[in-house]
Amino acid sequence: MNIYKVLPDLKNDRQMRLWYQGLRKQWSAADIDWKKGQRISNKSFKDNLAKVLTPVLTGEQSALYSVSGLIPVLGHRSEVEGQFYLTTWAVDEARHTELFARYYHRLDREPLSIRKFPAGYLFQSRIISKEPAEWLTGVLVSESLAQIISHEFRELDLDPVLSEICEGILEDEARHLGFNHVYMSDRFKDLFQKDEKDAQHFAQHLEKRRKYVLEGASPILKALEKECEIIGLDQEKIISEVDRMTKKRLEKSVQAGFKASEGETIPEEELVVPVGV
Ligand SMILES: [Fe+2]
Ligand SMILES: [Fe+2]
Repeated sequence: MNIYKVLPDLKNDRQMRLWYQGLRKQWSAADIDWKKGQRISNKSFKDNLAKVLTPVLTGEQSALYSVSGLIPVLGHRSEVEGQFYLTTWAVDEARHTELFARYYHRLDREPLSIRKFPAGYLFQSRIISKEPAEWLTGVLVSESLAQIISHEFRELDLDPVLSEICEGILEDEARHLGFNHVYMSDRFKDLFQKDEKDAQHFAQHLEKRRKYVLEGASPILKALEKECEIIGLDQEKIISEVDRMTKKRLEKSVQAGFKASEGETIPEEELVVPVGV
């Protein structure tokens, strides 16, 4: 049975702010100028790019499924503000899926089939959980990976349309990672207020989960080693960046929750973990 709050109090201001941002910052694939001339003319380069973009497209699609799946989970916990925000997150992932599907049309190529690319699907299965904090820890890895890859593609600037797509996605990902932090720090604030030892144990449990999900990411890039090199992506750098950033981000959410339980706040600029620093 679903649990509804007859009158939600909507008191979580930070989550409400992200919900408004999510609503206001919407855009669509129709805003992209798809007629811009293609810079990639080499046929085999296109083949390789299509292979490398396979985990990107499947990642967007699975993000759409998993975010949509979490909306009823937060409903059962009567976390209405978070539910509101997740509806915009799902729209974002639907848009990303459309963008990459249309980009394949532009390339006139197809992604690798499931049979040829099991690593991508195995990685996604590690992320899913019915416990929101576990799920968000897994998602922290996949979202940070998406952020770094979009960042790398924007820097490579292979094709003006791909660069424009990545620019827009980077803004969306910053919001997703923002919600990840806000939700997790709220959760840890409650946990620390209830029992400090339990909160510490839960933080250790999530750190193990982060590593478990991350272990699933390396085989994806390994499977595309040759193609990544041709395209200009340094896979070892990408994985070590994801490791560094997700570890820091999880730690900062726990720390922020602990401080909040003592009535203190960490300044926003200290919470930012930028790409490539
Ligand atoms: Fe996405
Ligand atoms: Fe995302």
